[in-house]
Amino acid sequence: MSSNPGFRSFLLLSFLLLLSIVAEVQARGKIFNVVAYGARGDGRTNNTKAFCNAWYHACQSTKPNMVFIPFGIFLVGPIVLSGPCKGPINFFLHGDLVAPTDQASSSIDHWISFQYIDRLTINGGGTFDGQGASAWPNNTCRTLPISVRLDFVTNSEIHHVTSLNSKNFHFNIYACKNIIIHNIHIVAPGDSPNTDGIHLAESNDIQILNSVIGTGDDCISIGPGSKNINVSSIQCGPGHGISIGSLGFTPNEDNVYGVHVTNCSMTNTMNGVRIKTWAKPYRSTVSHITFDHINLNSVANPIIIDQQYCPSKRCKPGASGVKITKVKFSNIQGTAATQMAVTLNCSASNPCQKIEMRDINIGYYGVGGAASSCCSNAYGACYGQQHPPSCLR
Ligand SMILES: *[C@@H]1O[C@H](CO)[C@@H](O)[C@H](O)[C@H]1NC(C)=O
Ligand SMILES: *[C@@H]1O[C@H](CO)[C@@H](O)[C@H](O)[C@H]1NC(C)=O
Ligand SMILES: *[C@@H]1O[C@H](CO)[C@@H](O)[C@H](O)[C@H]1NC(C)=O
Ligand SMILES: *[C@@H]1O[C@H](CO)[C@@H](O)[C@H](O)[C@H]1NC(C)=O
Ligand SMILES: *[C@@H]1O[C@H](CO)[C@@H](O)[C@H](O)[C@H]1NC(C)=O
Repeated sequence: MSSNPGFRSFLLLSFLLLLSIVAEVQARGKIFNVVAYGARGDGRTNNTKAFCNAWYHACQSTKPNMVFIPFGIFLVGPIVLSGPCKGPINFFLHGDLVAPTDQASSSIDHWISFQYIDRLTINGGGTFDGQGASAWPNNTCRTLPISVRLDFVTNSEIHHVTSLNSKNFHFNIYACKNIIIHNIHIVAPGDSPNTDGIHLAESNDIQILNSVIGTGDDCISIGPGSKNINVSSIQCGPGHGISIGSLGFTPNEDNVYGVHVTNCSMTNTMNGVRIKTWAKPYRSTVSHITFDHINLNSVANPIIIDQQYCPSKRCKPGASGVKITKVKFSNIQGTAATQMAVTLNCSASNPCQKIEMRDINIGYYGVGGAASSCCSNAYGACYGQQHPPSCLR
């Protein structure tokens, strides 16, 4: 992280910001420094109790209070920081949090869980270090903890923090409304299992902007019940790209409606922009989706709709019950790492409809010839440049 000069100046800036924010909060609310509750930033002390106590007290006032984590390395968790709080609350992470690496803590579904909070801000320039390397080899035998969970959180903001080496997803946003996530940094190795950057489900009015995400799974994944989601100015890679899905795994899933992804770049990722559903009959719809101004740099599957997702054992192949309609791919340019640059494999029982392809220019320079596209059950229209040639019907 500190090898990135932009990030270093950002740290300096965030320190200056810290001074002004501290002054501002002092004027209005109180600062609850975890050290005053017995926390020690020595990388060894178990600070879970101290953090709970600081949070509890900060939560008891109508003023905008701050839980302050100063510079240092704080071992903490698993921990639940719960509301409702009486007023707005700021989790100001200036130092670094490190997750436990013991086996017991690795079988709980969260490391740091924020829930039932209105007007939460998480910022401060610090790092959530999930210590994932200790647990990744165990990814197949148990569900590992998600680093930062937000459940039932509203009108909130996450910015200027880093998530490093989560054991499972970095951020999971569930049943939330009106959340802005911006200027965050997500880092994990390209081969770390299941480390999605930000996963959304059952949430609406979410903005994710101006962030750098490099991880082992989807940079951003958008699950069932996501509505009015805007993603812009994200640099993704390594990772699996920006994905809607997987959908249709269980019956009665909520629809996905209104997802707008714009001005994003994908570098050495498995996918660029993707919609993925299980090959199962459970019905739902995905509609009003735009992927616009996407820059590709050596991406294996730049544009992909895959409705035949059916890895062995967990599924018996059949036609997907998820209906995909009104999806626009526009201004998508750059290079593919495989020849099949565009794949639109839609459901035989629920064909994709109203797909729009506009100004597509994807080059492939490897063996086998120019970039190509492959469609099944995909209907729509194209406008402007089409390279590879469109296969829409
Ligand atoms: C830290 O303390 C909490 C209780 O305060 C406990 O639940 C947790 O297991 C402890 N973590 C470690 C790594 O010992
Ligand atoms: C992973 O599994 C191994 C073998 O079962 C165990 O010894 C180790 O403690 C586990 N690590 C974690 C973080 O759960
Ligand atoms: C997303 O962008 C659209 C179009 O600019 C806007 O109408 C909508 O309100 C935005 N949604 C959010 C959650 O910011
Ligand atoms: C597009 O994203 C890049 C970062 O990847 C950013 O520098 C640029 O300002 C963004 N442009 C717009 C118009 O938002
Ligand atoms: C798309 O469908 C074609 C033809 O059925 C198949 O060869 C290809 O493997 C499929 N691609 C994906 C990603 O499912």
